[in-house]
Amino acid sequence: MISFVWAESKHHIIGVDGHLPWKLPNDMKRFKDVTTGHPIVMGRKTYESFPNGPLPNRLNIVISRNPDYPVPESVVLLTDKNQLSQYVQPTEEAMVIGGEGIFKMFVDDVDRLYLTEIDHDFAGDTKMVEIDYNKFKLTEKKEGTVDERNIYPYTFKTYDKI
Ligand SMILES: NC(=O)c1ccc[n+]([C@@H]2O[C@H](COP(=O)([O-])OP(=O)(O)OC[C@H]3O[C@@H](n4cnc5c(N)ncnc54)[C@H](OP(=O)(O)O)[C@@H]3O)[C@@H](O)[C@H]2O)c1
Repeated sequence: MISFVWAESKHHIIGVDGHLPWKLPNDMKRFKDVTTGHPIVMGRKTYESFPNGPLPNRLNIVISRNPDYPVPESVVLLTDKNQLSQYVQPTEEAMVIGGEGIFKMFVDDVDRLYLTEIDHDFAGDTKMVEIDYNKFKLTEKKEGTVDERNIYPYTFKTYDKI
């Protein structure tokens, strides 16, 4: 199955200048909890936004149009989404983690959404694709804790395809 994992602020903003527009450690923790142990599927730019290279304890799958894009041996490089089935079993939960073009690529295939909704207006240059929420049911909702390290109000939501 295919899941999306992302955080968006008001107006569906997800990125600015190649990085996240906000700092929200509790969301990073949720991302880690949700994705660890599952393959993560991402665009080349999202991969390059990781400060310390591939994320540990998950198969990192990078999508690029460049078949020669250099990745370490532990990382899988795809040039086409149809190659995904060679690396991920249908029973596994493949976590598509962005960015924009990669969410668009899988929007008709996605079964589950892990959304962090940030109730703040950020400037950005990358937006989440349009999702038809009529096709999904909200199965989990949890208000995030606001504190000195997590200063923006946020809500964790999970949706499953009806
Ligand atoms: N808030 C969140 O949850 C979240 C999640 C992910 C990313 N982000 C943010 O979003 C930004 C990065 O996202 P992005 O949308 O700019 O880039 P991206 O989707 O991560 O990467 C774009 C690259 O993916 C490859 N690609 C895209 N479509 C393809 C296709 N049809 N076939 C083959 N390869 C394809 C291309 O790589 P090549 O150029 O190598 O061919 C393209 O340049 C950053 O600011 C990041 O921090 C935020």
